Amino acid sequence: MAKHHVTATLNGNPVEYLCETQQTLLEVLRDELHLTGTKEGCATGDCGACSVTVDGRLVCSCLVLGAEAEGKSIQTIEGMADGTKLHPLQQKFLEHAALQCGICTPGMLVAARSLLERNANPTEEEVRYWLAGNLCRCTGYNQIVEAVLDAASEMRRA
Ligand code: FES
Ligand code: FES
Repeated sequence: MAKHHVTATLNGNPVEYLCETQQTLLEVLRDELHLTGTKEGCATGDCGACSVTVDGRLVCSCLVLGAEAEGKSIQTIEGMADGTKLHPLQQKFLEHAALQCGICTPGMLVAARSLLERNANPTEEEVRYWLAGNLCRCTGYNQIVEAVLDAASEMRRA
C-alpha cells in the first residue's frame, strides 16, 4: 500500500515523513524520525511514557496515527531544552532526583510542561491529578511532584 506523505511541524521546525496507515505517531517519531526521547511503555495508552503535544494538546503518541499529524504542530521532549540550557522542569528533575531508570521521565516532563502552560501556580493536588496518567515504577512520585512545584515557583519568579 502507498505510504502517506505527511507535512507537519516538529519542535518548531518543518518536517516531512512517509508512514504506513497503521503506524502510530510514536513509531514515526522513534523509527522514522529517529527521535528516541519519546518512550514506549505499554503501547495501549495506559502509562504516559509516550506523551507529546499535538497542537498544544497533551496526547499519548501510541494512540495517535502518524498520518493524523498532517498539518499539526508536534512537541516532543527533544524540543524542551533551549540548546544546552535545560528547561526549568528538566533542571528541577535533576536537583530533586526525580528520575531513576528514566523511562517515564520524558513523558512526565512533557506532561508537566503542558500543565504549567495552563496553570502557572498549581497546587500539589493539581500536579498529582494532572500527572495521574503518567506511571513511574521507580520514584514513588514524591520527588516528581516536588520538582514540578519547584519548577513552577522558579518559572513564576523568572
Ligand atoms: S506507551 Fe503510550 S501510553 Fe504507554
Ligand atoms: S524513573 Fe523509572 S519509571 Fe519512572
